[in-house]
Amino acid sequence: MPRLDDARIDELVIKAWEARLNAYAPYSQFHVGAALLSADGRIYTGANVENASLGLSMCAERVALGAAAAAGARSFAAIAIAASGTLGVTPCGACRQVLSEFNADLPVLRCKPDGTYVMLSLADLVPSAFTGRGMDDDRLAPELSGV
Ligand code: THU
Repeated sequence: MPRLDDARIDELVIKAWEARLNAYAPYSQFHVGAALLSADGRIYTGANVENASLGLSMCAERVALGAAAAAGARSFAAIAIAASGTLGVTPCGACRQVLSEFNADLPVLRCKPDGTYVMLSLADLVPSAFTGRGMDDDRLAPELSGV
């Protein structure tokens, strides 16, 4: 895992703000950027991509995770999320679940427009996340699964 020192965090925060510039958000006008640091030190970025069929809009975090996973990354060290609003944003429930798939303790940097950030842990944002391990338990002990 790359060390999350100040220089690395600064780089991740800057990349999230840069990614935000590519947000496609004609419906909400709310532009979000995300930068995801993989265990091998690469950074994958994403921005929200909205759609006229509003429910099909994609959040910046899931776009970044999709790019990373499609490039073969499976282990992550941190994600930075950049958005306007005094406090920035935390990931929506769907993104929290999707990020949990790969690292339930992922450090989440909520970037604020004043250039500062707040570091949170995904584990605190998603207590008792559903994971694939729950399904494994059922497969290993079918008598307990109710099927
Ligand atoms: N959005 C994100 O991309 N990430 C978040 O963490 C919060 C919300 C997007 C979805 C939608 O395009 C717009 O922001 C308004 O909800």
